[in-house]
Amino acid sequence: ERGGYPHFMLKEIHEQPKAIRDTLIGRIAEGRDGVELAELGWPAGFAENMDRIHIVACGTSWHAGLVGKVWIEQLARVPVDVEIASEYRYRDVLRTPRTLMVVISQSGETADTLAALRAAKEGGYRVLAITNVVGSSVAREADDVIITWAGPEIAVASTKAYTTQLVALLLLAIHLGLARGTLAADKAREMLQALDNLPQLADQVLDTAPQLAQFAERYKDAHDTFFIGRGLDYAVALEGALKLKEISYIHAEAYAAGELKHGTLALITEGVPVIALATQPHLYEKTMSNIKEVKARDAFVLGMTFVGNEDLAQVVDEVIYLPQTLPVLAPVLAVIPLQLLAYYAAVARGNDVDKPRNLAKSVTVE
Ligand code: M6R
Repeated sequence: ERGGYPHFMLKEIHEQPKAIRDTLIGRIAEGRDGVELAELGWPAGFAENMDRIHIVACGTSWHAGLVGKVWIEQLARVPVDVEIASEYRYRDVLRTPRTLMVVISQSGETADTLAALRAAKEGGYRVLAITNVVGSSVAREADDVIITWAGPEIAVASTKAYTTQLVALLLLAIHLGLARGTLAADKAREMLQALDNLPQLADQVLDTAPQLAQFAERYKDAHDTFFIGRGLDYAVALEGALKLKEISYIHAEAYAAGELKHGTLALITEGVPVIALATQPHLYEKTMSNIKEVKARDAFVLGMTFVGNEDLAQVVDEVIYLPQTLPVLAPVLAVIPLQLLAYYAAVARGNDVDKPRNLAKSVTVE
């Protein structure tokens, strides 16, 4: 049942090219003129008139929401708030009458996410769910549902669900951008083309596995690790740190690279592993100077960037290169080496990779 893989997690990491492909099928219009999301039963004018989006989720799904915010705000020019469901549901939330509520849940059964959905529905808001399980509570109770076709995810650590949630969110952002006239047709076409190529690129990124396995073996006894990045890279850093904590039990913190010198830099000492993401061209130089700051404290830096940014190698100790695509799509590729790093670290430490201590796959109690 694990298809020849030693763990479900590794199998699911490797299923990502297919999961991305399956999530895209039928959703890119012919000629790449737009996005087909017939599952959105929105009344006329709904996309054009919404003035705020609240994205609510837990854990990895929340991290996907953080990426979604950047995409939606950039492409559709709607303000987006992303919040952890267990916070959102107990807060006196301020919504406008034209707020769209989006919940993201792999399982569709997470108690806090479901409660936030119900509260929004009671308030008369239209709820869109992004979920991986057809017929789940979230799917049944939401007004509109975008299914991520990742297939069953068995390992507690979420991998292919995250990448497909990202794909769904980008499709949604493009759809909204086109509907609202904030995204030019040629830009949309370029992105849809890049999305179409993504499964193939994700497959190439899987080839970084031996490099990550080696790194994990070397740093398996580290006490603390740091993941840094700016913008989309910061959102991915949060997911990378969660993955490492969850299954390897190594303490990991993600930091917005520019925030390091406001406190955390004090923790960077000789040999501390820092995973630095630098995929975004407009932030590249800024991140580079943060990387130099941690190198000056003798951290061991594993950098990640696109092929072609050869200067990073001169500053860091090791580089993971991602195949070229539009930088806006970087999160879908950049998370894969981080999943592999967490996986190999957990294996190197002899942990129960698929069933980490204290955790359940689906958190149906609060
Ligand atoms: O099923 P959900 O997406 O609602 O689950 C949310 C979180 O419990 C989940 O993403 C959790 O953080 C994962 N174990 C992380 O790998």
